[in-house]
Formats: sequence, C-alpha cells, structure tokens
Amino acid sequence: MDAPQLIKVTIDGREIQVPVGTTILEAARQIGPDVAPPAMCYYKPLKGSGGKCRACLVKVTQGSEKDPRPMPKLVASCITGVQDGMVVENFTNPDVVNARKGIVEFLLINHPLDCPVCDQAGECHLQDFAYENGLATTRYEEERRTFEREDIGDKIQLHMNRCILCYRCVYTANQITDQRVHGVMYRGDHAEISTYINKAIDNDFSGNVIDVCPVGALTDKTYRFKSRVWFSKPVDAHRDCDKCCGKVNLWYKGDEVIRVTARKNQWGEVEDFICNTCRFDKKNTSDWVIEGPTKVSRASVISANKYGKDVIKKTPYGLQHAALNFKQIDDAREYNKDLKEIAQSEDYKALMEKNEAYFSKK
Ligand code: SF4
Ligand code: FES
Repeated sequence: MDAPQLIKVTIDGREIQVPVGTTILEAARQIGPDVAPPAMCYYKPLKGSGGKCRACLVKVTQGSEKDPRPMPKLVASCITGVQDGMVVENFTNPDVVNARKGIVEFLLINHPLDCPVCDQAGECHLQDFAYENGLATTRYEEERRTFEREDIGDKIQLHMNRCILCYRCVYTANQITDQRVHGVMYRGDHAEISTYINKAIDNDFSGNVIDVCPVGALTDKTYRFKSRVWFSKPVDAHRDCDKCCGKVNLWYKGDEVIRVTARKNQWGEVEDFICNTCRFDKKNTSDWVIEGPTKVSRASVISANKYGKDVIKKTPYGLQHAALNFKQIDDAREYNKDLKEIAQSEDYKALMEKNEAYFSKK
C-alpha cells in the first residue's frame, strides 16, 4: 500500500507533517497538549462528532502555501481540515483567547453552578474549560432553563439543566448500541435531550452515554451521591468479558468499589466502550484482575494527595499563562542567608535610605 501523502502545518509556531484529511485539532493533538485546542463536543471515537460547541476555535493566519490569505473568521478546528503550508494560531492569538472567554459564557448561560452537589465535579470538562479559559464573573442576569430530572432506564439519570447539547450521547447511542431511543428534541432555546415517550434505554452498551457526557447531565444512578471523586481512588482492572473488552477503571472508596467506568485517554475520551454488565453488575474486587493505580494525566483533583508527583502532569495552561505574563526569575543569583552580611551590603543600605525618605515625607 502507498504511504499516505503528508502535508505540513504549523500550529502556535510548532510544525508537523500529517496525512491529507487530518483536522487542525487532530494535528494539534499530535504535536501535544500545550498546543491542542480544548474540545467540549468533539469526541474522536464518535464519527461525525464536533462542530457544536465552538470551544476549539482557532485563527488560521495562512490558509495554505498556494493561497497564503488568512481565513477571515475564527474556525472550529475539530471540523476544519489542514492544507499544505497552513499556519494556525491557538493559545498565541489574543482573538482566540478572547473568543474562548465568550464561549465559556455562552456554555454557562443555562448551566447551573451546582458543582458542590454535582457527581461530575472534579472530572467535569466544563469545569476545567471554564477554569482554564473563562472569566471568574458572569454578565448573565436572566433565569436559566430548568427541567425535571428524568430517569432513562433504571441505571441512568438525565439532569437536563446541566446539558450543553454537545450531542455526544446521541452519537454514542447511534453508533454503539443497536437501537437509539433518545435524541435532541425541539430546536434553539427549546432544544433538550429526551427519550421518545420516556422509553428506557435498554441496551447492553447504554451506560457509555454516562462516560461520554462532558458534564453531569447523564449520571450513573448506582453511584450518585456516593462520594466526591477526589475521595475515591481509581485503579486499572480487567476481566474476561464476552460482550466488551473488559478493560475498566474501578473507583474505590476504602475497600468498596463504588463505580466502574471505561478507561479514558489523555483527551478524556473513552479508549474502549464497555458493557453494562461490567459497569453495573461487577462491583466486587474478586470480579477483577487489578493491574495497578490509574495514571492520572490531567492536573486533576482526582489525584490530590494520592499519587507521587511523577504521576501528575502540570496543566499546560498554567505554564503558558506564567510564560506569557511573568518575567523569568534569575535563579542563578547566590542566595545569601547571613543577616549581618545583608545589613552591611550597599544594596540594603540604599534600600533603607529610600524607605526612610519615603516615610519621613508622609
Ligand atoms: S446529555 Fe451530556 S452528552 Fe448528551 S448532549 Fe447533553 S451534555 Fe452532551
Ligand atoms: S470541539 Fe470543536 S466545535 Fe466543539
């Protein structure tokens, strides 16, 4: 088979060659998390996902080698393909940084700030997205949309107030279960996720909608209010399963398995979807072969006080923010701890004189 044709793209000053047809977001992910745009609706394992939330907007400053004109508007990187010689700005472009602040505001227009009681707190992508890209205040004064909670079967609860209409659960049900019985009903401000005539999702893989939901809109009823995620400890485990890959994370509180989820990659996407038997019916340690502690790669409260510092990676946003806003400190200077010597130094005397002059004027 012929090797795929590679084209060159530069993102935030970093160059990479990718096959024709790659999106900007996927190319950025190949470079690394420090240039990869955030994504609230795009989900690589789900075909056709993306283009709904605008979290991943970037500036294309050069369309291609052949046509170097910039694209007039910011584009959604998850659905825009790269061209040969394209130049893209993400975290380095002030318009993109500002636009993201706006997107956070839009996503929070109807999302309740109920993190203290939400099961998703600590592993919520909207929480992370708002923290890393948003403002600490809101300008929104109108009332938020409110809905009654809805049971989707006996194991899943829908809390529509929290839904950001990313469509991931709809794609999941479409693509990995044999019968989708829920979807987005109505349009615009009235749009909501619902089941047709409250039909239960009754399918061996239905529980995966919980894992793909970026917020706490779809929650596991067997886990609700059992613990805060930072009090539980995830381990990698597997079992022989005739329906799915059987590779999961077990979440322990003390000796008790309080939750079973699919394993996720560094972008928070499910690596392999798991069946409901593994998720809901296998909650004893004896059901599983334990592989070891789960590697927590996001700077996450999940890892707080549980793992050595080598297991936790710092958020690229924090490092970028520091690099942009603060001067590098000259750490090469010798650190003088001798107070007598400091008191006799010319620098210290000059400082004291300056202070005296300042206070005598007051
Ligand atoms: S319920 Fe969750 S996964 Fe489904 S559309 Fe809403 S936010 Fe997305
Ligand atoms: S992640 Fe690209 S539009 Fe949502």
